[in-house]
Amino acid sequence: MGEIRLHPRSSASELRATAEAGANIALTKYWGNADADLRIPANDSVSITLDRARTVTTVAFRPDLPEDEVTVDGRALTGPAWERVSRHLDLLRGRAGIAWRAQVVSRNNFPAGAGIAASASGFAALTLAAAATLGLAFSPRDLSRLARRGSGSAARSVFGGFVLLHTGVRDEDAFAEPLYAPDWWDIRDLIVVVSRAEKAVPSGEGHHLAPTSALHQARVARVAELNRQLLDALSRRDFAALGQVAEEDALLMHAVMMTSRPSLIYWLPETLAVIHRVQAWRREGIEAYFTIDAGPNVHVLTLPPYADRLQADLRALPGVQDVIPCRPGPGASVIPNPAE
Ligand code: PMV
Repeated sequence: MGEIRLHPRSSASELRATAEAGANIALTKYWGNADADLRIPANDSVSITLDRARTVTTVAFRPDLPEDEVTVDGRALTGPAWERVSRHLDLLRGRAGIAWRAQVVSRNNFPAGAGIAASASGFAALTLAAAATLGLAFSPRDLSRLARRGSGSAARSVFGGFVLLHTGVRDEDAFAEPLYAPDWWDIRDLIVVVSRAEKAVPSGEGHHLAPTSALHQARVARVAELNRQLLDALSRRDFAALGQVAEEDALLMHAVMMTSRPSLIYWLPETLAVIHRVQAWRREGIEAYFTIDAGPNVHVLTLPPYADRLQADLRALPGVQDVIPCRPGPGASVIPNPAE
């Protein structure tokens, strides 16, 4: 695979580029780090990059800025959220040997708090835009490794379709790789929004708590087997096998969260109602499975013949605020001539 094409627009007083990336839903999850400083995940994970949930980010490095300025959906970031972006930019500045601060403007095409983690698409788009701006020529693998330093799941959003994130011992070993293009398999992900509230404990903190659960090591061992089953299911397009793996690891991850100290319980009563609905559908012969990230919203995985009906039925459930239908989507890319 070649390099992702980079098109910086530069002048003596500004270096600027824009990139976009999609969010992703993990079928096997990244939860807990082998190396927290480097954000090297405790286990391999596999995800689908989503078409409908995308972030567009413009980065402009300028000599006159005293510090980085970051806005997301029109709101200026401050505190730890700002520091995380600024530290990530430091990594890229270090590679380019430049000290200029940056203006970062990021927009999500999905509503904030819609139950879609913006950190994956956000850090993938930021990494690509900053690399393009600075004229750094990275291979897709190196871009993925760099994106991982901002947010583990962002390593996967560099690529489209079905993506595997390898763990490793060293920074060089922990990167994502594309398994199959988006058109390999038309799986639908119906994102069921039951809450738009900001999560009390962000995933960054949650990763640190994972080892406090007695179940963490057991889950890491089990995920190795689940990943084998998942890769096999993907190669054969066996939806039942894929769905069983996705549900099992979502439940394993939430068992780890719930048994951490302090305990993390992301579920709401509506979360459980959707889980029960999906299981009832399966008893009726409908092919649907659930997975849940670090929050109360549920991703219902299904196939095209069921998608419209399930979407309508999910919308009618009490407490369901929205359903966002997604398909496998493309990877991150630089936008050569963005609209201002
Ligand atoms: O990339 P982070 O630090 O936001 O962690 C992602 C955590 C989960 O979404 C719960 C799982 C995953 O693999 O995406």
